[in-house]
Parts: sequence; structure tokens; C-alpha cells
Amino acid sequence: ATMLIDIVSVFPEYFDVVGLSLMGKARDKGLLSITTHNLRDWTHDVHHSVDDTPVGGGAGMVMKPEVWADCLDDLLNLTGPDDSDASPSAEDINGTTPSSAPSSAASPSSATSTAEARATATPILIFPNPSAPLFTQSEATRLSHAGHLVFGCGRYEGYDARVPEYYRGRGLDVREYSIGDYVLNGGEVAVAVMMEAIVRLLPGFMGNPESIVEESYTGRDPLLEHRQYTRPALWRGLEVPPVLLSGDHGRVDRYRRDEALSRTSRIRPDLIERLTCADLDKKDRAT
Ligand code: ADE
Repeated sequence: ATMLIDIVSVFPEYFDVVGLSLMGKARDKGLLSITTHNLRDWTHDVHHSVDDTPVGGGAGMVMKPEVWADCLDDLLNLTGPDDSDASPSAEDINGTTPSSAPSSAASPSSATSTAEARATATPILIFPNPSAPLFTQSEATRLSHAGHLVFGCGRYEGYDARVPEYYRGRGLDVREYSIGDYVLNGGEVAVAVMMEAIVRLLPGFMGNPESIVEESYTGRDPLLEHRQYTRPALWRGLEVPPVLLSGDHGRVDRYRRDEALSRTSRIRPDLIERLTCADLDKKDRAT
């Protein structure tokens, strides 16, 4: 089935690049249909303003709840509670947005399957937010099973807190994630990061599914991966660890496992602390 992704942003052009890379590949394979939306299309005032000063004072601006709700009600096929003025038409599914440039990331081909997905899949609403729980590989895995994701990119000072609260109250699955302990200017980059982590997990996306299972964070425990080498065995005076050339798979596995453990304890002690006894084998404990 095609995963449907809607992205709402005041900079929808940011996502044009997404159509070029591996996202484009996924779309061409029919795994994905991405549509971008300009939040300003849902403003009603002459200035197309999407934000206002924070209630209670403070620096910066906060995104207005009404604009977000008019937009999200449209994308989620919800009727707003207040039958106010007619909303501007949402984009055509294949990317011809009336007042904003269509994104090249939008699917060129799948109008029917996209419409079906829009009607049937339960959407998950996702807001990037530096003050939210961390986005991790296990979240990416969970979201890769969804049929419809709607990403709302806010500016870094944030959006009115009642927006996610309101849609949760309407029974939707609403999530807020930080992609790391640093502050970006807006949610666009965070959404691009999350999408890439999710989309590469879609069944049929990777040529070799095993390469997903084995890499860092996705194996049976969350260890950093061992280092990788290819030929030649000796390059500019630097050797490949000889055990890797031994042909003894048992010794190779043990070497890699020990390396993963020691690198993780050095670089990411927080990940080691989270390991349970069940994550360790007998030989791990001996090291
Ligand atoms: N918006 C600004 N900074 C962010 C971060 N670190 N993660 C998610 N969204 C953000």
C-alpha cells in the first residue's frame, strides 16, 4: 500500500529537494505519495499572518491555532466546530496547489490510490518540537507501519499548545517529537529527518532488508555498530583487523560484538545504561 504523507509548512518549497533523493525513489516505486501544503493558504487576513505574540509575554512569536485548525480540518476531512467562512481549497492531490507552487515531491501518478488511502487510512498527526520526547529508531519503525502521516512544521518558538490538544481530543493519534537536543529555526529540517528515517523502513524500499536489521539502533539491542572495512587489507600503512580476514565467523561475530560494546560504553554510556541483562550474552558479561 502507498504511504500517504502530507506536509504543512510556511516554506513548502523546502521539500522540493525531497523529490530528488531517495524519497523520489520511494515515490517512483509507488511506496509513497507526498503532498506539501502552504499554511498561509488557510489564512483569512490580508497579511496572511500565521503567528502572534505569546500570551503571558516573552520573546518571539507563536503560531495561531485557528490557521492550523482550518488547514488540518481540511487535510483530515474533519468539519470544524464553527462553520466559519469557507476555507481555501486544499491542494489537488497531485500537487497543483492554487496559491502556492506545487511540490515536485507530490506524486505524479497515483490519484486513485491516494484518494483511497486518504479515505481509509487512520492519519497520524506529527509535530516537530524541540521540547518534546526524542524521536528514536523505534518511533521510526512504528510510524513506518502507518498509512497516512500528516506533518505540521512549526517555527521554533512553537505553535499554540491547544492545536495538538484539540486533535487528541477528537480522537486522533497526535505525536510531538524532538530530533535532538539543539534548536533549529523551524520544523522543516526535523520533518525531513523523520521522514527519511521512516521511509527507508517501508517494505520494498531497501534492496537488502538485512542491512536495515543489522545497523545501529535496530538490532536486538541499541548498541552502536562495529566499524566496517573493505579491501585492501593494508591501505596506506593501516591494517584491517586481522580477525576479520580469518574466515572464522564465530570469532568475527565475537570481535564485532565486543567492539560494539566497547565503542558504545565509550561514546554513548547512556545507551549502555539502558541495556538489560537479557540484552547481554554470557561472553558479553565476561568482557
Ligand atoms: N524545532 C526546532 N528545533 C527542533 C528540534 N530539535 N526537534 C524538532 N523540532 C524542532
